[in-house]
Amino acid sequence: MEPGFQLFPDQASSFAPGVDALYAFLLMIAAFFTILIFLAIVVLSLYYRRSAVRDRKQRVSAKLWILEAVWIVVPLVLTMVMFVWGAAAYFEQRVMPTNAIELTVVGKQWMWKIQHPQGRSEINELHVPLGQPVVLRMVSEDVIHSFYLPAFRVKMDVLPQRYTSLWFQATKPGRYHLFCAEYCGTEHADMSGHVIVMQPAEYAEWLAGGEEQPPVSAGEQLFTRRGCNTCHFQGDQARGPSLANLFGQPVQLADGTVVTADEAYLRESILNPAAKTVAGYQTIMPTFEGQLSEEQIFHLIEYIKSLTVVPVESGQPAPVDAPAPTVERGPS
Ligand code: CUA
Repeated sequence: MEPGFQLFPDQASSFAPGVDALYAFLLMIAAFFTILIFLAIVVLSLYYRRSAVRDRKQRVSAKLWILEAVWIVVPLVLTMVMFVWGAAAYFEQRVMPTNAIELTVVGKQWMWKIQHPQGRSEINELHVPLGQPVVLRMVSEDVIHSFYLPAFRVKMDVLPQRYTSLWFQATKPGRYHLFCAEYCGTEHADMSGHVIVMQPAEYAEWLAGGEEQPPVSAGEQLFTRRGCNTCHFQGDQARGPSLANLFGQPVQLADGTVVTADEAYLRESILNPAAKTVAGYQTIMPTFEGQLSEEQIFHLIEYIKSLTVVPVESGQPAPVDAPAPTVERGPS
């Protein structure tokens, strides 16, 4: 919700209570020592002021090593609590869940372009269902932006040429602020919008209102239109490696190293194919740098991901809900 001034934003995600508790702890420690030191300065300087008659002969009698130990151990314990607690909160946010809805976000001067896996896209608004983990895969078309949802206690920089991601699980229906939190030019202050948290049924209804093509099928069309399928197919004649069951798997490169086929690898291989040549293939693929929009690159990646058979809980591999991995033979 958006009332007027609030000291703290709403707690609308599963992260919010934990982040706030840590923040309160840090604030209390800082306040406690600030007040303690301030009081000590005031009280002692009044008590031992020059005109006061005090016994100044008695020196501190405690053994010095005890004092040393106290001011080593107390700060050490406090900072270790802060470190472990902070690191746990950090890793909780930085490890992406695997069962999440994955949306793509493209930032540009000065707007946020968001697309849902069913195709519906929106600008400066983000509709999400209540109680389900949502992952945002983000990239910028121009300069550095930062995607910030105060009510969810999440913020992540959005960079040109590089994917970043963040996730959250909304816990309270409503409408919350979305900000760009990195100065990015004249209209930075207007690069804002809203997150709308809906009941899952409402969200499904909202998704159905879109007319855009789902990213996977847009990617499939692009794959054919750009002629990717003339080299990337299964078979001895293929000039490029097959992309079926590639996503998330290790790839043996010509220089002997092994990399994981994640979004960053696929992006690099589309834009700069010579950077990582797969073992057994020649570096003949042309670059698509400057020829594809960020949205189109996302679509191609979504299509390549859809060609991957993911293992289900039972350990049995099962095909994902995506077009079957059709591999067309190109001219040989
Ligand atoms: Cu984008 Cu500030």
